[in-house]
Amino acid sequence: MSEKQQVSSSYWLDTAPGGRFPALTEDVDVDVAVIGAGIAGLSTAWELARAGRSVAVLEAGRVAASVTGHTTAKVTVLHSLVYDKLRRTRGPEGARLYARSQSEALEHAAGVVAELGIDCEWETRSAYTYACDAGRVEELRAEARAAAEAGLPASFVTETGLPFPVAGAVQVTGQAQFHPRKYLLALAADLVERGGHIYEDTTVLGLDEGEPCRLSTAAGATVRARDVVVATHYPIFDRAMLFTRLSPRRELVVAGTIPADQDPGGMFITPDEGTRSVRTAPFEGDRRLLVVTGEHFTPGTGDPRASFENLTAWAVDHFPDLDVTHRWATQDNDPTDTVPMVGPLHPGARHAYVATGFAGWGMTGGIMAGRLLTAQITGEECAWSGLYDPRRVRPAVREAPSFLKTQAKVAGHFVGDRLRPSPPVESLPPGEGAVVRADGHRVAVYRDDDGALHAVSARCTHLGCLVSFNGAERAWECPCHGSRFDTDGKVIQGPATKPLERRDI
Ligand SMILES: Cc1cc2nc3c(=O)[nH]c(=O)nc-3n(C[C@H](O)[C@H](O)[C@H](O)COP(=O)(O)OP(=O)(O)OC[C@H]3O[C@@H](n4cnc5c(N)ncnc54)[C@H](O)[C@@H]3O)c2cc1C
Ligand code: FES
Repeated sequence: MSEKQQVSSSYWLDTAPGGRFPALTEDVDVDVAVIGAGIAGLSTAWELARAGRSVAVLEAGRVAASVTGHTTAKVTVLHSLVYDKLRRTRGPEGARLYARSQSEALEHAAGVVAELGIDCEWETRSAYTYACDAGRVEELRAEARAAAEAGLPASFVTETGLPFPVAGAVQVTGQAQFHPRKYLLALAADLVERGGHIYEDTTVLGLDEGEPCRLSTAAGATVRARDVVVATHYPIFDRAMLFTRLSPRRELVVAGTIPADQDPGGMFITPDEGTRSVRTAPFEGDRRLLVVTGEHFTPGTGDPRASFENLTAWAVDHFPDLDVTHRWATQDNDPTDTVPMVGPLHPGARHAYVATGFAGWGMTGGIMAGRLLTAQITGEECAWSGLYDPRRVRPAVREAPSFLKTQAKVAGHFVGDRLRPSPPVESLPPGEGAVVRADGHRVAVYRDDDGALHAVSARCTHLGCLVSFNGAERAWECPCHGSRFDTDGKVIQGPATKPLERRDI
């Protein structure tokens, strides 16, 4: 990477570029249309094809190239600190169902890898949630107890394999890590072999929930399907106001190689300030790839450049022989009550489903969602339907503080961001962007490396919050629900589906 270049593409995209699928150009009729080809959408489509349904996957960009192509790809049921909280908010049975559903997804994925003979660098490892802060030991002990009570092979330990001392850790044995694109590209190929269709560069704009449902695409094609699954990460159709219960969280990733004998031999995450997640992956010769994640922030806020420096410094500090090759970022959505939302899209939905809110754990979460939605669409029972039901209301009472915080944050951005002072365009250096006032409107202006200005409306096309510039990734980001746009206003990430309008400046 050059000094100027803050981010690279992700290691997973670099090492498994994959082929292309066609765009949808004419109307099609299928049993099920799945919108979004990340791990949630592809897993769902593949399970449905296996269950004998005709399936079309509609993907705005490329298969497994959005959040799933930028993840850390630990396939684990140890989700930082979740079981003690679930025990308190959903009772012991809720925690057990969560553990069972996620464990079943992990076992299922291992079975799929074996069945299809997928070469996706699947490796079995222990997962650890550790803390260096001695003040967190009781919290870790409680988590280990709750995870064990939920049926997991969990224990409290003080030795982890990390090259620095920890105050304590929860260990869960028998977890896994993989190359997410190698796994999903194989699933996509198998889906097509089973008669399924995958369309890339196909943005869905509208959903009419009739019988059949009708989806309209940006290119003007219509997809008719008995059932529709919205697996677009942040839902593009939100008829249950899920956006009031989801917060986007962006996080940075630094990767590079280390000598194989310095591999800490597990998968690690800490809830300590700044969050740090560590795993390794196979690499050439006597080196292993080290992947370090952390420094989370709300999209459109903070200073990602400084955060990249912090994370890189931490990685090199703790792994001095690290040769950094990649730096990228991605984001996930945190539900206010910790549990993903997988099931009917809204209270009256009969044929529309959603999978979202994986809170940083969408590998087992996405695979679980594929199994759960397939059961619901094919009319089978699933013991954890109720746990993940997006229409759940009771926990909303318990999640009130978190819900109110999310709403206050959005309202703060909606109003407060409009009061920010407007810098003069002339002072904008190359590679920088700022929101300025012009003719009574807020305009997002970016100056490219050649000095040319690119101006678009600063009003997010989702629900109208103002976007902010992310200088490390040269993108406009919306702090309200995390939509992202390139410097010419094209949508990089939803829930927005329409570009920022061009402006003259
Ligand atoms: C830094 C980081 C590290 C992580 N590490 C882990 C980990 O180690 N283990 C783990 O379990 N989880 C991890 N996660 C979480 C996990 O990566 C995500 O939960 C998961 O990838 C989300 O998958 P998805 O299918 O919901 O979304 P995506 O992969 O984003 O897929 C959604 C797809 O929908 C498409 N789409 C959007 N709008 C439209 C439209 N209008 N029309 C058509 N298509 C559309 C998008 O282009 C995209 O391809 C991590 C998250 C982050 C942020
Ligand atoms: S993402 Fe919702 S207003 Fe921008």
